[in-house]
Amino acid sequence: MTSDSLLFKSSGKAVADHEELAGKIRLLKKEMNAIILAHYYTLPEIQQVADVVGDSLALARAAEKNSADVIVFAGVYFMAETAKIINPGKLVLMPDLYAGCPLADSCPAVEFREFRQKHPDALVITYINSTAEIKALSDITCTSSNAERIIRQIPEERTIIFGPDRNLGGYIMKKLGREMLLWQGYCYVHEAFREEYILQACRENPQAELIAHPECREEVLRHAAFIGSTQALLDYTESAPASSFIVATEPGILYEMQRRSPDKQFIAAPKDPENPRSVCKQMKQNTLEKLYQCMLDRSPEIMVPDDLRVLALRPIKKMLEMS
Ligand code: 13P
Ligand code: SF4
Repeated sequence: MTSDSLLFKSSGKAVADHEELAGKIRLLKKEMNAIILAHYYTLPEIQQVADVVGDSLALARAAEKNSADVIVFAGVYFMAETAKIINPGKLVLMPDLYAGCPLADSCPAVEFREFRQKHPDALVITYINSTAEIKALSDITCTSSNAERIIRQIPEERTIIFGPDRNLGGYIMKKLGREMLLWQGYCYVHEAFREEYILQACRENPQAELIAHPECREEVLRHAAFIGSTQALLDYTESAPASSFIVATEPGILYEMQRRSPDKQFIAAPKDPENPRSVCKQMKQNTLEKLYQCMLDRSPEIMVPDDLRVLALRPIKKMLEMS
């Protein structure tokens, strides 16, 4: 077991407490006609009570197509906000309103508007990891699952502004051989993986394949046997003939990888010892206790002013049509 998977080990008492709470959550879910959506980076006990566990794209789709009255979003703020933008008539709850995404927060609307004004003819494509204000300034949103597919559909001669993740943008530029104007944001979790330590892990585990999320730096991506979104990495580990993988992304995904492929070995990519930040602490702010409490209280609720919501919905709809 890796040091990161130890993160998810619980004592017998904790497991019993989790089961009791999970039972209450399931009952409440029926009473409220609620659906629980959870990202793969949340804690295993959260994934176990969720109706849909997915990457950003799968969760946006699940938020679009469901018959629940209440959406409980165990993820980070921009995900729940996106669900509310898609479903203005539904109650959208979040276990912890302060579980924000530092990547989304690294792109303030005032500065992004100025960036856009410098290139008035450019098409603005933004990663879904952005605030509603940034979405409102965008033509199309994308996720790591569909960014490449969407950008391939844009005529070559059209200038593209891409933000806020410079690593995902740089990866697509290299893959498609196409220039884009990049906002210089990054995800601290993926940025923390460094070539030196990754190569050391590869030397120590010569049987294992390195797989990586495109939010990682180029110095890591260039060594990967496979690069993909959270969902693509998961599907790859299920279908690839290799039986051992070094996984360069948030280690929450190891739970589902191991569940789907119990006979394979998953090694969390090592952190930089001087910058040990490759766990998304905002995703882990979603605990079972907070999940239960927010359903009981029907709060905290996500609110998006209607004028902003209408503007932010346009690029999300465009994304869902194009992917
Ligand atoms: P995906 O869910 O698109 O793989 O993105 C990863 C991520 O960092 C979500 O915040
Ligand atoms: Fe944001 Fe990175 Fe955490 Fe995803 S993993 S929520 S991009 S900080």
